[in-house]
Amino acid sequence: MTPTKTLAARFPEEFLFGVATAAFQIEGAAKVDGRGPSIWDAFSKMPGRTFGRHDGDVACDHYNRLDADLDLIRDLGVDAYRFSIAWPRIFPDGRGEVNEKGLEFYERLVDGLKARGIKAFATLYHWDLPLALMGDGGWTSRDTAYAFADYADVVARRLGDRLDSVATFNEPWCSVWLSHLYGIHAPGEQSMDAALHALHMTNLAHGFGVAALRSARPDLPIGIVINAHATLALTDSEVDQEAAERAFSFHNGVFFGPLFDGAYPDDFMAALGERMPTIEAGDMDAISAPLDFWGLNYYTPMRVKHDASKGAEFPAAVSVAPENVSKTDIGWEIDPSALAYIIRELNRRYDLPDLYITENGACYNMGVENGTVDDQPRLDYIARHLSVLADLIDEGFSIKGYFAWSLMDNFEWAEGYRMRFGIVHVDYETQIRTVKASGHWYAELATAHSGRN
Ligand code: NOJ
Repeated sequence: MTPTKTLAARFPEEFLFGVATAAFQIEGAAKVDGRGPSIWDAFSKMPGRTFGRHDGDVACDHYNRLDADLDLIRDLGVDAYRFSIAWPRIFPDGRGEVNEKGLEFYERLVDGLKARGIKAFATLYHWDLPLALMGDGGWTSRDTAYAFADYADVVARRLGDRLDSVATFNEPWCSVWLSHLYGIHAPGEQSMDAALHALHMTNLAHGFGVAALRSARPDLPIGIVINAHATLALTDSEVDQEAAERAFSFHNGVFFGPLFDGAYPDDFMAALGERMPTIEAGDMDAISAPLDFWGLNYYTPMRVKHDASKGAEFPAAVSVAPENVSKTDIGWEIDPSALAYIIRELNRRYDLPDLYITENGACYNMGVENGTVDDQPRLDYIARHLSVLADLIDEGFSIKGYFAWSLMDNFEWAEGYRMRFGIVHVDYETQIRTVKASGHWYAELATAHSGRN
């Protein structure tokens, strides 16, 4: 058997191989067909926020190249496509008037997938909050959670009959901490108080969104996508071990606790509870409504060290990039064993539903030479992580699918277009797509796997 056949044979028949993208990162057409501005349009146009002040105005021009890109996905032989819906295409002002043209685009997308025999995995929020909602305070306001539920309802009613799954949020860690505490993502705030509000309102929006989706389409599989962190202590000293435990609460527990236990972690609440917004009666029940699946986005572990600086707030833990380890071109440590660690650890602590790996992949920036892109390191990265997943499935974990990040090179947020994660190369001058070596290999793997059905 060829190596791809051997690897494919390690996954159950019903396991899905897919590719993933997100609206803001690929669509472009920022002002077309009534789309309203998002916080990322505004943020990326400010000085010093994204590399080279890159923005999403054109991106991969996917909005105008939908059919060709759907053909590309089909030619990769994958079972499923994970994409996100741009809230500001559906509600240009965040709430109120629905933009029919926006719904039509996603209808074409979903119908195009169905026509090609590909399953449609939608995400409702992949960070492009309608800018108009910043008037109420964006994610720091409870009103945004209500607006999100209305948006979820409209999508479920229009597209729910043709979607194979819906995730409410993508990586709330990023839209909460990275966006409101660390200031790296839109809207670029650096305030613990703002971040604590964003945390609860995001969790709440998820809960309200689930209720809206369930009442519109009781049969639709619903979940959430989380970039759970493998919070590994940098050393085995007691202070670092304790810091790693606090980091677990801060980076994972504040999402997994409310979702799967109906409560924020005790140590987090003891340290920061007084600064949290009011948690109203019924909030935690809404947030912890049962889910059909959860999605894990995994790239790299977090190496945690105690933060001894005076005045360090909870979790008083810093993450350190270790030296002398292999890293991808974005500087992230490669450690497939940490993928197994975090899946085991989360299942030990919580009662979790089925798992999809909704993102995994690697940044390597090599370009096209003689018509091909030789990205062997990406191929190796994906193969090694898949092999860990096959082991976990053998152990009995219920892992239902894997989505490679990403279908194609795209707008890597604060890093702009300079960091490339695609298994397909995009030339941003010409918009020519070139399948990389990793893409050809992944297509062989997906085809070998579905050939067993
Ligand atoms: C996770 C995010 O969901 C995605 O938008 C991003 O491009 C990748 N990680 C790589 O950083």
